[in-house]
Amino acid sequence: MCGIVGYCGPKKATGILLDGLKRLEYRGYDSAGIVVQKDGGLDGVKRTGKINDLRAIVPEAMTGNCGIGHTRWATHGGVTDLNAHPHFDSANRIAVVHNGIIENYTQLKAHLNAEGVVFRSETDSEVLPHLIAMYYEGDLEKAVRSALRRVKGTYGIAVIHADEPMRIVGARNGSPLVVGVGENEMLIASDVTAMIAHTKQVVYMEDGEIVSITPDGFTMTDIEDKKVNKQVDEITWDLGSIEKEGFACFMEKEIFEQPETIAQTLSGRIDAEYATGKLGGLNMSSRELLGVKRVKIVAAGTSWHAGLIGAHLIESIARIPANAEFSSELRYRNCVVESDTLYFAVTQSGETADTLYAMRELKRKGARVLGICNVVGSTIARESDGGAYTHAGPEIAVASTKAFTSQIAVFYTFALLMARMRDMSISSGFRYVKALQSVPEKVRETLTRRDEIQRIAKKYCHARDFLFLGRGLMYPVALEGALKLKEISYIHAEGYSAGEIKHGPIALINEETPSIFLVPADELREKVLSNMKEIKARNGPIIAFCTEGDEEVASIADEVVTIPRIDELFYPFLATVPLQLFAYFCALELGRDVDQPRNLAKSVTVE
Ligand code: AGP
Repeated sequence: MCGIVGYCGPKKATGILLDGLKRLEYRGYDSAGIVVQKDGGLDGVKRTGKINDLRAIVPEAMTGNCGIGHTRWATHGGVTDLNAHPHFDSANRIAVVHNGIIENYTQLKAHLNAEGVVFRSETDSEVLPHLIAMYYEGDLEKAVRSALRRVKGTYGIAVIHADEPMRIVGARNGSPLVVGVGENEMLIASDVTAMIAHTKQVVYMEDGEIVSITPDGFTMTDIEDKKVNKQVDEITWDLGSIEKEGFACFMEKEIFEQPETIAQTLSGRIDAEYATGKLGGLNMSSRELLGVKRVKIVAAGTSWHAGLIGAHLIESIARIPANAEFSSELRYRNCVVESDTLYFAVTQSGETADTLYAMRELKRKGARVLGICNVVGSTIARESDGGAYTHAGPEIAVASTKAFTSQIAVFYTFALLMARMRDMSISSGFRYVKALQSVPEKVRETLTRRDEIQRIAKKYCHARDFLFLGRGLMYPVALEGALKLKEISYIHAEGYSAGEIKHGPIALINEETPSIFLVPADELREKVLSNMKEIKARNGPIIAFCTEGDEEVASIADEVVTIPRIDELFYPFLATVPLQLFAYFCALELGRDVDQPRNLAKSVTVE
């Protein structure tokens, strides 16, 4: 969703802001703008479209050493040049960029209108510069603090004033903001990717904090103006992680990174001597883990699919009742919280509003909530009671791929840990560990099916609808395959339990509706074969993903992609990867914007 970047220091701000916004493109946006302090005033441009469109209209003369920039994803007000950020006060002395939603903007706007303020945009954000101007008496930080006391809603903001050169004031409540500490230069951004080219030293802001930055450093205070001491963290990954490095797009790169990212997730998390999982970050003793009677997982989208796989594993091998629920549902229902239930919030970004608020609601009721997050230092990572980072590295493509396989890798280690404290014998544990450790290599082998998958994608990508079908652990994989196809190719696709199609969806089957079957050599293979025959009998084209050497599947399906043989519990890794490739090649063939599909944002920080 919306992105913020700000810079003050000896270099020219314009280029740094535009490059920073370029790095934030992956979050999803529809318009962008920048403003710099120049000749005692403010000089800004904004427009709808891509960062390159904005770059094309930035005048050469627009130089300055301090400025802020923004990518907007429309919520209040259409996609227009005027609604793009920055927004200015009436005298054009104050500029604000804002992520989040000002919930009481109607009342604030009415009040400001009554004071004679004329609004230029339809956004909620524009109330901020006018409010700040109302309180401004020569101290921008003070004016921002006073204005924010009147604001209800969520925000991450960066503000500059023409009369206060080389100063940016930022504030956070519900929308992430990070301060970058450089040498004689400082940055502020909604996401570290926007500043990694300049510094790896960062300070994560908490809700309710206000920062004032100048090239010499920063001061952090709370809304009551009390000083807050902050620690400076070091980012452990480098610029290469957020560049395409020879791949056509980030999604392709991230799909092909999976052998390494899964290995990275598993690294240090398997105790080979006792054949169990090691997850120190859970912050729970063995006795506490033994006392867990139920596991509940909350998440959204792809992370929810990972949660479904996690719940299945935990229940089937650790024998602990487990389920996964949409965070957007849980946050608004009066859920029962029990003291012996362990909760997980699963999220790549660590900023998804639904998951964050579901976690807060659970914690308010006294639940222990663990996070499974990819983004280090993200809000959910910091507010959870413990958890595990997925260590998949920055995921830039909007469609989540490597984060998903790393999320499930965490669940495989957690399920092992819990199972080995209960029913699983050490010899079964050894078998499990051996299979789990073989996953990265088997994923690498699966990726060699690339050309075959591309051929099939080319042949079928003009279909209007697809069904993705699987059972057991393959059911969430089917949901994930359908979601991938929908979000990047815009082809309608439904994921179903293969056992459910006879209860309705089979009515959709005809010669033009392909069914994608996930039918590896697991305990439900026979059942899925029967479901395949039901489709075949109705002339539906079948694309099957099965274990290599499975002649029976090959004799029924129209197209077959084989995956390597592995212990049956671990097929979710090997079945997911070809579906990611299938979606990718369909989108490519259809000429879609693979990394930034329409209407989508990488990190959904609004409801
Ligand atoms: C994944 O491809 C999607 N773009 C989306 O469903 C995503 O998984 C969802 O928004 C949750 O995001 P999170 O993992 O960052 O919380």
